[in-house]
Amino acid sequence: MVILKKASDIEEYIYQKRNSGRKIGFVPTMGALHAGHISLVQRCKADDMMSVCSIFLNPTQFNDKSDLAKYPVSTDKDIELLLNAGCEVLFLPDADEVYPGGSELATTYDFGYLETLLEGASRPGHFKGVGQVVARLLSIVQPHTLYLGQKDYQQCLIITRLTQLTGMDQMKVVICPTIREADGLAMSSRNRRLTETQRTRAGILYQCLVSIQAKTEGGDFAVVRKECEELMQAKGIAPEYVALADARDLNPLENYNKTIPMVALIAARVGEIRLIDNILINT
Ligand code: PAF
Repeated sequence: MVILKKASDIEEYIYQKRNSGRKIGFVPTMGALHAGHISLVQRCKADDMMSVCSIFLNPTQFNDKSDLAKYPVSTDKDIELLLNAGCEVLFLPDADEVYPGGSELATTYDFGYLETLLEGASRPGHFKGVGQVVARLLSIVQPHTLYLGQKDYQQCLIITRLTQLTGMDQMKVVICPTIREADGLAMSSRNRRLTETQRTRAGILYQCLVSIQAKTEGGDFAVVRKECEELMQAKGIAPEYVALADARDLNPLENYNKTIPMVALIAARVGEIRLIDNILINT
């Protein structure tokens, strides 16, 4: 695996490969890698792409600076995981490479209502930061295909919109399924911060999503939502939202609508750790 730290070096490296006929697949990450990230690299390789991964802990997407300070960093372990997965190129820049001139000068994008609800409402400015960093990374890597994990469903829609706003819509965006632990908990870098008890209890998020999905036929979403909130609370977990939306654009739904693709989404605090998850319905 080639590890490059300078934007100009990776641009040059990829330029040569592209000219020799390789297709470029890109997996952007913030490090603290787990099987979910590795599944994206594997999918990229299965699609016969040159796999390019980036690790950059982007400060501009953290509205809560203590969350940034506590974000797990394990770069040596990450490199080992990527090597074992057969990743070909790792871009490991520092902040000056990503934001020459400072992050406050980086362009921001307007995602409209999509950045105002759910994660956008809970984490003001979060998607502006995601937009800034992903636009910059995409302009450096210029991949043919971008691989994203479904766990961050709203982020997937935001980044797809970003490719349109930046005129990069010829780039394919592939949304890969969430990888889960045996009890259904979605893999996340944040899971590392859970205590053993919290970790055991956190499986309830997925159980709630499955129960929302199971009640599509004839269920009343308001009732199901209340049941889920109570189930979480009984385990000492504080729900932030339990929501149902149109899977194509995240327009909120009051109740199940079997004629359209839907997504159920949950955000909850387990102690001070904020977890999110979602499940697709009818897609
Ligand atoms: O999902 C993430 O890890 C980050 O939001 C991303 C897309 C790498 C941008 O920093």
